[in-house]
Amino acid sequence: MHPFWDLAIEPTLDAAEATEVLEIGAEAGKTTGRLLDRAQRTGGTVHSVDPAPQFDVARVALARGERFAFHRGRSLEVLADIGAVDAALIDGDHNWYTVHSELVALAESAAAAGEPLPLLFIHDVGWPYGRRDMYYDPASIPDEGRQDAARAGIMPGRSELGSPGINAGLWNATHEGGSRNGVRTAVEDFVAGYGVPCDVVIIEGLHGLAVVCSDERREAAPGLSGAIARLRSPELLTEWSARVERWRIDADIARRRAEAERDAAAARLQRLEGSLLDPPEPGRDQA
Ligand SMILES: C[S@@+](CC[C@H](N)C(=O)[O-])C[C@H]1O[C@@H](n2cnc3c(N)ncnc32)[C@H](O)[C@@H]1O
Repeated sequence: MHPFWDLAIEPTLDAAEATEVLEIGAEAGKTTGRLLDRAQRTGGTVHSVDPAPQFDVARVALARGERFAFHRGRSLEVLADIGAVDAALIDGDHNWYTVHSELVALAESAAAAGEPLPLLFIHDVGWPYGRRDMYYDPASIPDEGRQDAARAGIMPGRSELGSPGINAGLWNATHEGGSRNGVRTAVEDFVAGYGVPCDVVIIEGLHGLAVVCSDERREAAPGLSGAIARLRSPELLTEWSARVERWRIDADIARRRAEAERDAAAARLQRLEGSLLDPPEPGRDQA
C-alpha cells in the first residue's frame, strides 16, 4: 500500500478532507507512519487494525497520543466498535469473504451514523490476489466463504498452484477466477450491490490499488472530483510507470546483491573446509 502514498493516497485523502481514517492491515507500520504524520497535520485520528502487528504498538501509542487508536484483532471482530470513518485503507486478509464483509461493515457503520460511504483505498486488486483468495488463517473464514486452498506457489497466467511460483508459504486458493474469489472480485461485487453509484479507479502495478468514491462522498467534499480525475490523468500514470520501473530495477539489484553475498559466503565456507582437510606439509613453519 505505501508505494501509492504520496502520488495517490495522501492527495485524495486531503481532497476528501478526511480526518477519521481507518487502516486495516498495518504490518510493519510503513503506511501507519504516513497516516500518523498526516493526522498530526489535520488533527485527526488513525484507527489501525491488525491481529499481528510487526512494530511496538505501545511505543507508537505513547509517542502519538490521541492521534493513534490501535485495535489488535481481525477486522471483522473490531470494525463495528470503531464506527463511521471518513476513509478506509484496506490491506489485511486478501480474500473475497474478508474484503467483501469489511466493505459491508464499513457501509453499515456509515449508514448508522447518517454519513456517506467512506472513501476507500483497497490494495491487492491486481495480480496475484485480484482474482485469487489468500488466507492468513483459513480456519478464521467460514467454510462457505472459503475457496479450496493450499500452501503452494502462484505463477502469472497459470490457474493451478505449483512450483516455481511466488508466495508458496501462504494459503492460496487452488484456482484463479470464478465467483467469490479474490480482492478485486470482492470490490466489484460490493459496488454492484451498493445502493449509491460509486466511481472506481484502478491503478495497476505493485499489486494494484482500487480507489472507490461514492457519489454521496464526492458531493460532501468540493475538491474530491478533481482529485479522482487526477488519478486517471496521463501525467499521474506516466509518473507512476516511472516509479514501478524504479521498483523493478531496485528489486533486481537487491536480488543480485543477495546472490553475490550468498556465493561469497559459500566460497568462504569452502575455503575453511579445505583448510581443515588439508594437512600442513612436514617441516612447513606453523603460524
Ligand atoms: C500486506 S500486510 C499490510 C501492509 C501495510 N498495509 C503496508 O502498507 O505496509 C497485511 C497485514 O494484514 C494483517 N491481517 C491479516 N488478516 C487480517 C485481518 N483479518 N484483519 C486485519 N489485519 C489482518 C497481517 O497481520 C499483516 O500485518
